[in-house]
Amino acid sequence: MEPVTLRTARFVLSPPREDDIDAVFAACQDAELQRYTTVPVPYSADDAAAFVGEFVPQAWRDGTEHVFGIRRDVDAPLMGVVSWQRARGAVGYWLDAQHRGRGVMTEAVRGLLDWIFAHDDVELLRWECYTGNVGSATVAQRVGFRWKGEGLCSVVDREGAHPWGWLGELRRDDHGTVQLRSEWPVLA
Ligand SMILES: CC(C)(COP(=O)(O)OP(=O)(O)OC[C@H]1O[C@@H](n2cnc3c(N)ncnc32)[C@H](O)[C@@H]1OP(=O)(O)O)[C@@H](O)C(=O)NCCC(=O)NCCS
Repeated sequence: MEPVTLRTARFVLSPPREDDIDAVFAACQDAELQRYTTVPVPYSADDAAAFVGEFVPQAWRDGTEHVFGIRRDVDAPLMGVVSWQRARGAVGYWLDAQHRGRGVMTEAVRGLLDWIFAHDDVELLRWECYTGNVGSATVAQRVGFRWKGEGLCSVVDREGAHPWGWLGELRRDDHGTVQLRSEWPVLA
């Protein structure tokens, strides 16, 4: 599939490009990002270059994953990434630490979900995070995912295992119908 560009009220979502490599490298040094995602540790400039230059375009081409950079405008620096991991049936995201806590990811994921349900015939999206990732879970709850409980994540961690995590689901029919699902436990 050809890469596409999406817009939300405040942001442009467009595929990471060559001049984002430094921003990806810098963001992926963050300890929390490394703790809660599967990025390589230590994270090198070559990792960032391979992500932007090889993984992202290849995944767009073969339709396995649609990765969007989050920016304030088309030419603005990359703040983070939100992704429709089509082959896994899941959404994923990370944000540079300096931009967290201002609703950026909630808005970006809503924009992604609108696009997915408008352009893909998928009926069910999954979200998962490692146990304890309250920030990720708060975003998932706010964009409408249902709480499915704890269990093994589908993702394989750096040790080659499926980590224990928090799981959520969003059905096409549910998308946009409820502001905040009440069945979620207090996670903090
Ligand atoms: C998860 C993440 C993307 C959230 O991005 P964000 O833009 O800060 O998210 P939002 O501001 O839209 O919403 C997050 C909410 O959770 C809250 N939150 C974030 N971290 C929290 C924590 N550790 N404990 C409690 N609340 C937390 C935020 O304060 C915010 O709530 P508020 O609006 O009431 O202040 C970001 O924290 C991140 O990149 N984390 C590291 C990578 C990661 O974990 N990715 C997800 C893997 S599953």
